[in-house]
Amino acid sequence: MKQTWWKESVVYEIYPRSFCDSNGDGIGDLQGIISKLDYLRELGVNVLWLAPIYQSPNDDNGYDISDYRAINPEFGTMADFDELLLKAHEKGLKIMMDLVVNHSSDEHAWFLESRSSRDNPKRDYYIWRDPVDGHEPTNWGSAFGGSAWEWDEKTGQYYLHCFSKKQPDLNWDNPKLRNEVYDMMRFWLDKGIDGYRMDVINRISKPEVFTDAPVIDGLYGDTGRIVHFGPHVHEYIQEMNREVLSHYDCMTVGECGGVGTEEAKRFASSDGTELGMIFQFEHVMLDGNDRDKWSHKPMDLPALKENLSKWQRELDQVAWNSLYFNNHDQPRSVSRLGDNSPESAKAIAAALYLMQGTPYLYQGEELGMTNYPFKSIDEFQDIECISAYRQLVGAGLRSPEDMLDAVCYKSRDNARTPMQWNTEKNAGFTDGTPWLKINPNYLTVNARAEEEDPGSVLQFYRELLRLRRKSEWKDLLVYGSFRLLLEEDPQVFCYLRTYGKRTALVAVNMSAQPAAVNLPEETAFRDAVQILGTKGRKALETNLQLQPWEALVWAW
Ligand code: GLC
Ligand code: CA
Repeated sequence: MKQTWWKESVVYEIYPRSFCDSNGDGIGDLQGIISKLDYLRELGVNVLWLAPIYQSPNDDNGYDISDYRAINPEFGTMADFDELLLKAHEKGLKIMMDLVVNHSSDEHAWFLESRSSRDNPKRDYYIWRDPVDGHEPTNWGSAFGGSAWEWDEKTGQYYLHCFSKKQPDLNWDNPKLRNEVYDMMRFWLDKGIDGYRMDVINRISKPEVFTDAPVIDGLYGDTGRIVHFGPHVHEYIQEMNREVLSHYDCMTVGECGGVGTEEAKRFASSDGTELGMIFQFEHVMLDGNDRDKWSHKPMDLPALKENLSKWQRELDQVAWNSLYFNNHDQPRSVSRLGDNSPESAKAIAAALYLMQGTPYLYQGEELGMTNYPFKSIDEFQDIECISAYRQLVGAGLRSPEDMLDAVCYKSRDNARTPMQWNTEKNAGFTDGTPWLKINPNYLTVNARAEEEDPGSVLQFYRELLRLRRKSEWKDLLVYGSFRLLLEEDPQVFCYLRTYGKRTALVAVNMSAQPAAVNLPEETAFRDAVQILGTKGRKALETNLQLQPWEALVWAW
C-alpha cells in the first residue's frame, strides 16, 4: 500500500468555541488555541482539524457561513489565524480546515443576491422551485426539523435547505458556483493550510428530478435517502481534485453519511482521484434504529466488531479508513461504549486506534471527558436536538420523558461542553461565563491533574500515539492488514495486524467484568514482546485472562 504522510498522521479535532477562551467572553478563540499548541504537541497528534472559524451568524455554530474568506470576530482576526498557522507549523503541527459547501448561510452575499429577484445572475447558485399544488415541491424534511423547503414571499418560490432554513443548499450543477468554491479553496491552501475536512460532501449533487421520499418519523420524507450520492457527486469531487486538490500536498476527509463500503472505495480510492478518506457512519448508528436518530439501545459488541472489520477488510489495499468514535456531533464514547471510567476510556482508545486507518481524536477524548448530566430540555443549545424535541413531542409522536432520555444520550451538546483544563474556575476554560455549562466532573477529569498522574487517560493516549507514530512498530500499526479474532465474543475485542514478517495482537476487554478467552494456537508466539498494556505486564499465552477494561498489545 502506498505510504503517505497523512496515513501516518493523527488528527485532533478542535471545536474552537469550546476549546480555550483567551479574552473572557466565554467563547473559545484562536489565541486560546495558540496558547495550547505545546499541550497538543506533547499529546502526540500532528494535525489539527478546526471546526468552522469563518464569519457566521451561528445558527448552527459556524456550519452556516456568511463569508468563506473572513474569520468570525468571536474567534479573532485573520492576523490571529496567520499567527496560529505559523506557530502550529513551527511546532510540527498541520492545520486542516472545515469546508462547508453543501450549503452557505442565508446571510451570505450570494444568497442575498439570489433571493433578490428571479433573474438575478446568482439566482441559480441555490435551488429554487415553484410550489406544487400550492405547497412545498416535495415532502422532504430538514435534518433540523420541519420541511426542507422555505417559502420566499418576494419571488414566489421555495428554496431547498437540507439543514436549517438559514442554511440554503448550494446548486452544484452550476459550474460558476463550483468555480467560486474552488477559488475559495485555493485562497486557504495558498495561505498554507494542509487539508480539508469536507462537511456532508456526499450531498452536493441533487437528483435531476425531485420526488417524495419515504416518511420515517411520521411527518416528513427522509431527505438523506434522496440526496446522499446524487448522480454527479463523483464527477464533481473528481473535478475538485483535478482543479484544486491535486495541485497541493494536502490531506482530505469527506463526511459521508449513508455511505457503505462500495461507495467508500470510490470516494477514498487509493488511486487519488477523489478524497484521501471519508467519515462513515455505520458504526455510530449501531446503538440506534433505522427510524431516526432519537432512539437508542445498548451497543452490541459483536455487531460493532463485525462492522468495523468489514470496513477494515474491504478497504485494505484499495482505499483508506478514518478511525473515530467521537467528534462535535457524537456523544462521548466513554459514556456510550464505556462506563464513564478512565479505564474504559483507555480500552476504547486501544481497540479503535490500533486498527488500519488514520486516527481522529476529538478534544477532551484524551482526558476521558464524558457526556454531561443534563436534566431538562432547557439546558441544551444544540439546534438539532431542540428542534427534534419540539417537533416530535409537539406532534404527539413521543412523550417528553422519552425524548429527554434520547437527547440526553445523543445530543451533540455532550461533545460541546468546554474543555476541562484544570480545577480552577470554569475548569480553566474561561474567566467569564462559558457559553455552555462545564461538566461538574472537571475537578477530577482535567488536563493538569492527568499530566501529574502516570495512570491517567492522558498519559495512556500519549503512549499509544507515540507507539503509533514514532516507534519501531509504526509501519505495522499504520499499514498492517487487519484480521478479527474471537468474532462472537461478547466482551473482548481482539485482532491481529500483519505487515511483511511482523505481527501485532491487540486484545481488549470491553466490559467491566473479567474475561477469559482462548486464542488460536498460531498467535502464541514465543518471542512476542508486549508493546502496550493498561494494567501492567503479561506474557502472551493462548489462555488469556483479562481484567475489566484491560487492553494488551503484543508484537513479534
Ligand atoms: C455536519 C456537521 C454538523 C452540521 C451539519 C450541517 O454534519 O458536522 O455539525 O450541523 O453538517 O452543516
Ligand atoms: Ca473568547
